[in-house]
Amino acid sequence: MKASLPTSSELRIVADAAELYQAGAAELARQARRVLETAETFSVALAGGSTPRGVYRRLAGEPYRTDLAWERIHFFWGDERHVPPNDADSNYRMAHEALLSKVAVPATNVHRIMSEHPDADRVARDYESTLREFFRPPAQRWPRFDLVFLGLGADCHTASLFPGTAALHARTRLVVANRVDRLDAERITLTTPLFNSAARVVFLVAGGDKAVAVSAVLEGPLDPACKPAQLIRPEPGTLVWLIDRAAASVLRDCGSF
Ligand code: 6PG
Repeated sequence: MKASLPTSSELRIVADAAELYQAGAAELARQARRVLETAETFSVALAGGSTPRGVYRRLAGEPYRTDLAWERIHFFWGDERHVPPNDADSNYRMAHEALLSKVAVPATNVHRIMSEHPDADRVARDYESTLREFFRPPAQRWPRFDLVFLGLGADCHTASLFPGTAALHARTRLVVANRVDRLDAERITLTTPLFNSAARVVFLVAGGDKAVAVSAVLEGPLDPACKPAQLIRPEPGTLVWLIDRAAASVLRDCGSF
């Protein structure tokens, strides 16, 4: 069965990575301004890896550095490596260096995953408490991020939801530790139902090395066990694929959204 995206999906193809960084930064700014017209705070779950770094760096520049209400924006992470926050592989460190150390966001608005703790399951459960404490969801309701950024791996993983791993089946947890044998590593990741509770999820994908994965996820057969990015179907939230031309180069039908 061909992958069918939620009706509220949007595909935006931009010329190159530089345009993607600008578009990603503008996306956060636009959503934050809209939400903060009526809400006290704006919550965003950041993606890790290398692609989002350009978006975060762009947000650290003008006009965003001056214009955005950083004191009302709260930062979370969609996943983290099981390493200390000063480790070169840390998603927190990447965002701190690219953005959070450069804008006037209060330290109390930065809700990092405490990945230095040796027990990954404890890290996950502690982050669940952090999320419940901030969002205070009504009983039987999921916390609802205003915005989630996600990346896409060449193997169709997203966050730390890797093909064939246990985290793909988490349906009651907010956050889980996930053993990724291929990387010989533990990861901590938000779960599919939590991502799908977000008001808006934006994939940030650049580069020809992701083209086959983009086409496989968007146009190929539905097979989330092998293509975990297909699990991401926010409802009633919106799903945006923000990709550059190189990442879109294998798509057969760019208009099918
Ligand atoms: C991580 C991310 C991961 C990333 C993809 C794409 O912790 O690495 O959560 O899902 O988004 O691997 O990474 P690049 O942007 O570096 O290609």
